[in-house]
Amino acid sequence: MPALIPPPLSLYVHLPWCVRKCPYCDFNSHQAKGALPFDDYVDALVRDLDQDLPLVWGRVVHSVFFGGGTPSLFPAEAIDRFLQQASARLRLAPNAEITLETNPGTAEHGRFDGYRAAGVNRLSFGIQTFDDDALKRLGRIHDSSEAERAVKMAQDAGYDNVNIDLMYALPGQTLAGAEHDLQRAFALQPAHVSHYQLTLEPNTVFFARPPQGIPDQDSAWDMQEHCQALLADAGFAQYEVSAYARPGRQSAHNLNYWRFGDYLGIGAGAHGKISSGAEQQVLRRWKHKHPQTFMDTAGTAASIGGEEIISAERLPFEYMLNLLRLHEGFSLRDFESRTGLPRGAIDAPLQQALARGWLEPAAEAQGSEGHDCSDHGCSGHGDPAHADVLLRPTDLGRRFTNDVVELFLGE
Ligand SMILES: C[S@@+](CC[C@H](N)C(=O)[O-])C[C@H]1O[C@@H](n2cnc3c(N)ncnc32)[C@H](O)[C@@H]1O
Ligand code: SF4
Repeated sequence: MPALIPPPLSLYVHLPWCVRKCPYCDFNSHQAKGALPFDDYVDALVRDLDQDLPLVWGRVVHSVFFGGGTPSLFPAEAIDRFLQQASARLRLAPNAEITLETNPGTAEHGRFDGYRAAGVNRLSFGIQTFDDDALKRLGRIHDSSEAERAVKMAQDAGYDNVNIDLMYALPGQTLAGAEHDLQRAFALQPAHVSHYQLTLEPNTVFFARPPQGIPDQDSAWDMQEHCQALLADAGFAQYEVSAYARPGRQSAHNLNYWRFGDYLGIGAGAHGKISSGAEQQVLRRWKHKHPQTFMDTAGTAASIGGEEIISAERLPFEYMLNLLRLHEGFSLRDFESRTGLPRGAIDAPLQQALARGWLEPAAEAQGSEGHDCSDHGCSGHGDPAHADVLLRPTDLGRRFTNDVVELFLGE
């Protein structure tokens, strides 16, 4: 059996409040009523982190992501205090990517400087569209000029690593409208664009009462293809289903999720995934969703909403669910070291996916320079077991990702 080797570690921090709940959103986000308990929440985050620390003793944290909700509702002092407490407890890599999600409607002059001084080096703006009527229909709290102003304010404060979230296939949107959104985004010179198709999620207002004029699947597909080409022409390489980056500007944090890396999940409703080399297992743990319950219980077992060890039967599916989102694909040696399973465990579904033209070999590698062969249990570069096989989804495979992933569900 190959050994499960703990992969790189990230830290996710959930900040659960928004000015107003958007009708399409099923994130764990709650409309703020009155003054928010920023200090109490940071105290709760630190207690929560303390409780999870034994899962990751001594490991380096390569990225931090403040997600929401609307993290930019938090004053810079609160973010600074949390990062100071976190770096006193965890080994933060010196060049760690630290991202904070920002709603342009909450951008305040001076706050971006404060986040930067606290250590935040990447901002992700939820802009969605630059069409002011569409922004109203989406229930957003900002218009397009506020969105542009917020991004420029961040760039003036010295941020050169900015992401813009856009959604397409919006009610009433045309191909020209989706193109116009991208042109307005490009003019702001972001380093990264996340381009999501609007989905109607259960438990949202849009799901209960779908808005008029949502483009049908064929039109949404045309929009996606057209926008992919525009993004490529503008120098944004697609590396995941919805993620496009300028060279070297992929999101390190999200890449770690998609490569089946490890992450601590701190805060209301946050999910974590942690591998243990000693126990040769992968644990998932999640926290209570409701902000007040989370704050009342943080640091005690009662704050844990649930946890489970991913079974050997389910690991291939969970690995592929993530890795097959990536254009780069995966290697069989990586599958072995991140799941602790032998490559033979996925031989049958792999052969099926190859035969159907959903996967293709990317290259045959005889091991990369400088790695340690004892990591994967072969006797060195002359050993046939040393050969690594790289596989990636084809264009067809990317159209049918769900079907490809299902092959790995097992019996
Ligand atoms: C947590 S939010 C980003 C930060 C902030 N809350 C905001 O909305 O400005 C993450 C992103 O997910 C995307 N998103 C949320 N709900 C979606 C849905 N139903 N369909 C597609 N994308 C969605 C939006 O682009 C949103 O910016
Ligand atoms: S601001 Fe963002 S997290 Fe909050 S409700 Fe809207 S989309 Fe969801």
